[in-house]
Amino acid sequence: MSYPYQIKSYEEYKEAYKKSTEQTDSFWAEIAEHFTWRKKWDEVLNWNFTEPKVEWFKGGKLNITENCIDRHLKTMGDKPAIIWEPNHPDERARTVTYNRLHKRVCQFAQVLKNNGVKKGDRVCIYMGMVPELAYAVLGCARIGAIHSVIFGGFSAQSIADRLYDANAEFIVTCDGAYRGEKVIPLKSVIDDALIGNRTVKKVIVYTRTRTPISMLKGRDVWWEDEMEYAESQVEKDGVVSFPAEEMDAEDPLFILYTSGSTGKPKGVLHSSAGYMVWTNYTFVNVFQYQPGDVHFCTADIGWITGHSYIIYGPLSAGGTSLMFEGIPTFPDAGRFWDIVEKHKVNILYTAPTALRSLMSFGLIPVGGRDFSSLKVLGTVGEPINEEAWHWYDEHIGLRKCPIVDTWWQTETGGCLISNLAGITPSKPGWATLPMPGVQPVLVDDQGNEVTEKDENGMLKGNLCIKAPWPAILRTTYGDHERCKTNYFATYPNLYFTGDGAIKDENGFYRITGRVDDVLNVSGHRIGTAEVENAINMHAGVVESAVVGYPHDIKGQGIYAFVIDSNTHGDEERTRKDILQTVTRVIGSIAKPDKIQFVKGLPKTRSGKIMRRILRKIAEGEIENLGDTTTLLEPAVVDEIKNGRL
Ligand code: WTA
Repeated sequence: MSYPYQIKSYEEYKEAYKKSTEQTDSFWAEIAEHFTWRKKWDEVLNWNFTEPKVEWFKGGKLNITENCIDRHLKTMGDKPAIIWEPNHPDERARTVTYNRLHKRVCQFAQVLKNNGVKKGDRVCIYMGMVPELAYAVLGCARIGAIHSVIFGGFSAQSIADRLYDANAEFIVTCDGAYRGEKVIPLKSVIDDALIGNRTVKKVIVYTRTRTPISMLKGRDVWWEDEMEYAESQVEKDGVVSFPAEEMDAEDPLFILYTSGSTGKPKGVLHSSAGYMVWTNYTFVNVFQYQPGDVHFCTADIGWITGHSYIIYGPLSAGGTSLMFEGIPTFPDAGRFWDIVEKHKVNILYTAPTALRSLMSFGLIPVGGRDFSSLKVLGTVGEPINEEAWHWYDEHIGLRKCPIVDTWWQTETGGCLISNLAGITPSKPGWATLPMPGVQPVLVDDQGNEVTEKDENGMLKGNLCIKAPWPAILRTTYGDHERCKTNYFATYPNLYFTGDGAIKDENGFYRITGRVDDVLNVSGHRIGTAEVENAINMHAGVVESAVVGYPHDIKGQGIYAFVIDSNTHGDEERTRKDILQTVTRVIGSIAKPDKIQFVKGLPKTRSGKIMRRILRKIAEGEIENLGDTTTLLEPAVVDEIKNGRL
């Protein structure tokens, strides 16, 4: 496999960028030529941001799994597609070649078909990080079913909400998942999520931990039995085949739920061709992937990073993707580095929060490892602080590996702003330049483009994008209006990211964080409203307000101010009960780090909570709270200040 569209110099980047904006159609048509199509497109791009409506490669027909698997078989059938590293280092790693991946995906596609799954059906996937998760995802794509992967840290209630929202009829899960010392009882969580559910017809269960589970007759089936039966259907005389469904370029590929500033998580919907082209293009260019490189993205496939840079980007490029089941600190804080050495990892892509957590263990876990295979390092998910950047550069990259700081979102499908490894300049803490095809703009709160520099010579504003790139979200599942109000209505004719950014004299961007009520806790997106709703469900809680505060390792911590009518007076117990409620309603990832009981919340005369004040208190900036004269009861502020945790 070669990548004729791989950018090889800063000059080439500038040319590509220019062409992408001036001759958008021919720019993308030339790139799309390098994929496998059943039928080429009639029109490259058709869009408006008012409805919004975006169509890429309209009229084109394809199946993304033919691009991720079949087209590599002839020349690379025996090359590794996935290297799987289990949770426990004593268990043997597995290498899945493209031939094997093809067989397993065909088998699983047949399993789905045997169980009644059709094109367009929604299949919810709730599994640990095992290769079977990749087979499940690609099996869905092969028959045109829409996968909706749910991260293993979400609770039964969260799953139930997502199943309902997507009207999903099928689930693929595991008995359990290993995470460090723990076994997460996935099937049992699914069973809880299904109480009262009338739409789910089948649950396919892969055995990983041999945790005792209940299997409901008629509804629950074993992965192993189904796969064995399907094998005889897809393999004839040693030849494996399962015809891939012909998909329209704009047919939906998957839904992935993500948090916003209001209401329940929304189902971000991505379609087939544009997402494929974008994940491939960004993978090849940002990481400067070379055939044979081992790419290790440490994300979970339950998040967009795993979708795009463990599965679709690397596999569409015929690459080798390393998938890790466990956690960075098991059996000790040297696990990532062991994996790098053991599998001769060339590209390591992780989150700043993981780096900060590993930094806190000092240099002993890093010592003595052979890092000579490493060529490129990457980060994603949150702004990287300079200290972490330099630690990564010095102790892992040994000052010879470019670091790519990739800024993007679930909604963007792949990287939008990032340096290209070793090709365009890097700057610690800065995502730097937009990818070809991406036109960022900074606007003020009224939506006017910011043109005046601040005292440091920087432009500062709300980050928007002017025109669509191939993997922009197409809608929020079942509620197009919500997609419009969330992303396209704040500023007319712009996609609003929800992030703030600054831009320097070179045109480099630094993302400063969310400007809406979304928190970024350990690289996970969590809406403050969602956490408040969960806390408010706890008996005795009258009202609550949740804000973020700087946290050394997590980036942001969750600080909850709670008015509680509990008269028993045992605050510590109530605190634990509230944590339990949040764990039940959302999952343990949304548990507040701090809960402060208060008698009142600072509100305006119209009853709006003044979060700005709470944020300052949580951040420890209690001296300078700004104007509090418009408050209904200014005295509550002193009480909250005095009780600060
Ligand atoms: C934040 C993850 C600074 C940002 C791919 C964005 C970042 C949110 C970076 C999306 C980065 C992601 N620098 N901030 N390199 N990458 N973010 O949807 O606030 O889980 O809006 O997608 O993470 O989170 P999501």
